[in-house]
Amino acid sequence: MTVLWEPMQGAIDTFGMALGDDVTVVAHASSIDREVGTGGHRLVVIGPEVPARNAYELAEQLRVDRPAVGVVLLRHRLEVAVLTQALRSGVREVVQADDHAALVEAVQRNEALSARLGSPNGEAGTAGHVVTVFSAKGGVGKTTVAVNTAAHLAAGGAKTLLVDLDLMFGDVGICLQLPPTTSIMDLVAMTGHLDAQGLASVVEQHESTGLDVLVAPHDPADAERVPAELVTELIRLARTSYDYVVLDMPPSMPEHVLGAFDLSDLLVLVSTLDIPAVKNLRLATTTLDALGAPQQNRLLVLNRADLKVGLSVKDVEAALQQPVSLRLPNAMSVPAASNRGVVLTVDEPKDAFAVALRDFVDHTVRPHFGDEPTRASSHRSHRLRRNK
Ligand SMILES: Nc1ncnc2c1ncn2[C@@H]1O[C@H](COP(=O)(O)OP(=O)(O)OP(=O)(O)O)[C@@H](O)[C@H]1O
Ligand SMILES: [Mg+2]
Repeated sequence: MTVLWEPMQGAIDTFGMALGDDVTVVAHASSIDREVGTGGHRLVVIGPEVPARNAYELAEQLRVDRPAVGVVLLRHRLEVAVLTQALRSGVREVVQADDHAALVEAVQRNEALSARLGSPNGEAGTAGHVVTVFSAKGGVGKTTVAVNTAAHLAAGGAKTLLVDLDLMFGDVGICLQLPPTTSIMDLVAMTGHLDAQGLASVVEQHESTGLDVLVAPHDPADAERVPAELVTELIRLARTSYDYVVLDMPPSMPEHVLGAFDLSDLLVLVSTLDIPAVKNLRLATTTLDALGAPQQNRLLVLNRADLKVGLSVKDVEAALQQPVSLRLPNAMSVPAASNRGVVLTVDEPKDAFAVALRDFVDHTVRPHFGDEPTRASSHRSHRLRRNK
């Protein structure tokens, strides 16, 4: 159950006895994520020949991505500076490389702690899915799609977090009529050491859906005080404790949006039947190609698809070189619902817009991750549970 990261030949002969039977030796950090992800390893031991800087980087990443996996660092000499830096980065213990008895004890302590913390992939046992809703033009329906998608996932029993990453003009809080108490601004001071408790302290729950929501800063002037690193750290952390993390985006690509794209498992691209929306989305997809975002992880949604405005669905598909996965109708019920702080997919299940969006979530989004469609029974039981 242990990964030993050590580039020197013969490492297994030196440390194997202390580490027990189930040890995998890797020479490069790039192999570690796969080992702890699929191999179920609970401990990463970093050998004495790995440069300290690389060791700290790995520890920082694992602390956020896989908090149940422990890191033990072996050094030829124990120095105060190394100890301080190592513990700050998330290393559980630093052990002198030739002290095999101390290594055995560190392995045992780690095993006990990891067992208490849960599976190597986080408490839910599997990493959550990051679904990002984006368009390169304002007002096309990103927030509407993000809110309704997240709410339907949550109402179906999936632990879901909706994060408003439109840091300047985010309106998820208003659409859901959440109290203007906390926001992502409350996490700024935790940048670099954000943990599950910190995140939980700023998340608001939307009563009728069970959806957890993290809203954007209340003051647009605060947007630039949210570092892009915090957004990345937040997404990495959130996906360890939620089944789905849904991101609502601004109609632009600042640094924090690019970072979020990088961590997204599915991109829902929204357009309407107008040339500026299509043209801007075309430019955005060129950027996504350049960033290496896989095409098979993108879905195209056409909002207000029934409007007769001279541009056809085929025109949009040809321009964006991608089939439309969902056509949403133009419906007065949409602004009416957000004016009342309710979510159509949950509160008005027979509404045409809600039916189309729920079908998309059940038969396209969830299956993208190999998840079953939401069952009507789990939807109902969730509502009953929450109404107690
Ligand atoms: N299918 C629809 N039918 C009718 N109205 C809609 C529809 N979709 C969205 N709207 C309305 O259009 C407006 C803009 O929608 P929304 O806020 O979801 O867009 P957005 O892309 O998030 O905008 P922004 O770029 O400003 O964040 C809202 O008032 C919303 O209620
Ligand atoms: Mg919006």
